[in-house]
Amino acid sequence: MSEDVLILAIESSCDETAAAVVRNGREVLSNIISSQIDLHTLYGGVVPEIASRKHIEKINQVIEEALAKAKVTLNDITAIGVTYGPGLVGALLVGVAEAKSIAYAAGKPLVGVHHIEGHVSANFIEHPDLEPPFVCLIVSGGHTHLVIVKDYGEFEIIGRTRDDAAGEAFDKVARAVGLGYPGGPKVDKAAKDGNKHAVEFPRAKIEGAPYDFSFSGLKSAVLNYINHANMMGEEIYVPDLAASFQNAVVESLVTRAVAAAKEYGYQKVALAGGVASNTALRQAMEEVCSQEGLKLYYPSPIFCTDNAAMIGVAAYYEYQKGSRAGWDLNAVPNLKLGER
Ligand code: KG4
Ligand code: ZN
Repeated sequence: MSEDVLILAIESSCDETAAAVVRNGREVLSNIISSQIDLHTLYGGVVPEIASRKHIEKINQVIEEALAKAKVTLNDITAIGVTYGPGLVGALLVGVAEAKSIAYAAGKPLVGVHHIEGHVSANFIEHPDLEPPFVCLIVSGGHTHLVIVKDYGEFEIIGRTRDDAAGEAFDKVARAVGLGYPGGPKVDKAAKDGNKHAVEFPRAKIEGAPYDFSFSGLKSAVLNYINHANMMGEEIYVPDLAASFQNAVVESLVTRAVAAAKEYGYQKVALAGGVASNTALRQAMEEVCSQEGLKLYYPSPIFCTDNAAMIGVAAYYEYQKGSRAGWDLNAVPNLKLGER
């Protein structure tokens, strides 16, 4: 037991207050998430001030629960890992201040974690055989990146969105058709009863940047379709619209991820971020990867959306590399992937 590295991880970058205990980078002893979704649903999206206030209310309780569930005390913990960016500044600050206080009071090292590195690291939890290098498609509410994970915490970005993130497109379209917030899971569910070929939406290609994404044209096409139907007094069958929109997003994600793996010569492809829990994306990736002889990895839905277990995994590998944060660790709301 004494040689085990136990990370207490804290995540508060958006609307989930989360804490987890992770052993030796791969074993999740506890993963507590206090979601604020019901609260923000009232406003149709995340209200930053409300998020910060709720984080303050919940964070101590969530951490205590994480330690209790893991059957450990602060004494047993090797280091504290915390998300310090990117995210909402007020929300991030709650986690960062909490982690600094605990680390200082308990005399434990502090490790600052990049939220997106956390999302990628979620793949290590349930796939003990997965090791870098591999291609990873990161699709969350704020980010859409195609990267090569060269080593733990080392990324080469080969594609990114030029406008909206994939999750953002899901959220905006869901709102436009009246499905509400958060849009991704609602579109996913509605699409199950729809025909994905009912409406042919455009797929954007960016000249000279084969791995970049663009979803704003698609979003506009969906809005135009809705306005047109409203003007003509035609009823919209939401499942068809959801399935057709989702299919356009999925197709643009899958073709680029698979093309990148083939061109760069990697056999392993992983999905990460909230949109990685999308059933159509998983299914399409499964099909194409098996045709192309690629091995596909993705986390369970609970590890795809924001959680602290993934932060604990990333913190473990950062800790092993010697990464330590000082007491001046600050929230960095626009922290870029690959930056420290
Ligand atoms: O990774 P995440 O929890 O937070 C960020 O770091 O952004 O991702 C949240 C995003 C939201 O936009 C949400 O609508 C989307 O992930 N999402 C989904 C699904 N579940 C969550 N999008 C499509 N299908 C889903 N099943
Ligand atoms: Zn996230």
